[in-house]
Amino acid sequence: MVLLETKSLTKYFGDTHAIDHVDFSVAQGELLALIGSNGAGKTTLVNLISGLLRADSGTILFQGTDVTVMSVHDRIRAGIARSFQLVTVFDQLGTLDNVVLAIFSREGKTRRLLSLASSDHPVREEAFEVLREFGLESKASQPAGGLSQGERKLLDVAVAYALRPKLLFLDEPTSGVSTREKAPIMDVITSIVRSGKITAVIIEHDMDVVFRYSDRIVVMHEGTILADGRPDEIRRNEQVTITLLGTSPSQ
Ligand SMILES: Nc1ncnc2c1ncn2[C@@H]1O[C@H](COP(=O)(O)OP(=O)(O)OP(=O)(O)O)[C@@H](O)[C@H]1O
Ligand SMILES: [Mg+2]
Repeated sequence: MVLLETKSLTKYFGDTHAIDHVDFSVAQGELLALIGSNGAGKTTLVNLISGLLRADSGTILFQGTDVTVMSVHDRIRAGIARSFQLVTVFDQLGTLDNVVLAIFSREGKTRRLLSLASSDHPVREEAFEVLREFGLESKASQPAGGLSQGERKLLDVAVAYALRPKLLFLDEPTSGVSTREKAPIMDVITSIVRSGKITAVIIEHDMDVVFRYSDRIVVMHEGTILADGRPDEIRRNEQVTITLLGTSPSQ
C-alpha cells in the first residue's frame, strides 16, 4: 500500500533544478534508502515533504490526502516526522528531558516546557519507554551533551520517533559516527520498522549500511530519480554504479 506519493514535484533555486518533476513513493512498512551524490536533491525532497520548503509545483499525497501546502505542524499531526542532517538535541537538557520535550510538542503542551523537572508522570513514563526501545535508558538523567556521538544520533532519532509518526525521514542517521556505532543505530531503526510501528526513509551515504539494511533504494541525481529498486537490482544497475561509484558493475 502506498503511504506517500509525490507527483511531478518541483523546486528550483534560481538556475539549480534541486527537485525536477519528481515522482517518488513510499510503501507502508518499508525501510527505504534515498541515496545520491552531494547536491543530488535528497535533503530538498525531504524538506518539501516535511513542509520546511514550499514546492514550486507538483503535489504531495500522504495516505491519499493532499498535504502539498499544509503547515509543518499539521504534517507532523498527520504523521510525517523527520530528523535533520545535523543533530538537533539540546545538550544542556537531560537525555530523558529531550524526549519529554518532543512528547510535549507533539501534544501542543509548549506552555509546560518551563516546568520540565516536575513534568507529569505519564509523559516521563512514555519517554522512558522510548529510551528503552533505543537502549538509552541508563543515560536518562545524563545531560545529552555528555553522550557519545553515536548515542546523540540515537537520541536524535528517538526524539523524532517520540512524535509518533507513521512516516519517519532520517537525514543521514549514521553520519559522523564510528563504524562500530553504526550497527546499533541501524538495528534500532530496523526493529521499529519491522515491529510495524513506523515506515522509515533514510538518507545515507554509507553504501554498506544502505545495501545491508534497506528494502528498497531510490537513487537521485541532479534533482531527478535515476533508479528505484531492490538492493540487488540497484547493485546491478550500470547507470547507478557509473554515476555514483564511478565504476561499472563488472569491475
Ligand atoms: N536553500 C537553498 N538555496 C539555494 N540552493 C539550495 C538550497 N538548498 C539546496 N540548494 C541546492 O540544491 C541542490 C540540492 O541540494 P540538497 O541539499 O537537496 O542535496 P543533497 O542530496 O541533500 O546533498 P548532500 O548529500 O550533500 O546532503 C544543490 O545544488 C544545493 O546547492
Ligand atoms: Mg543532504
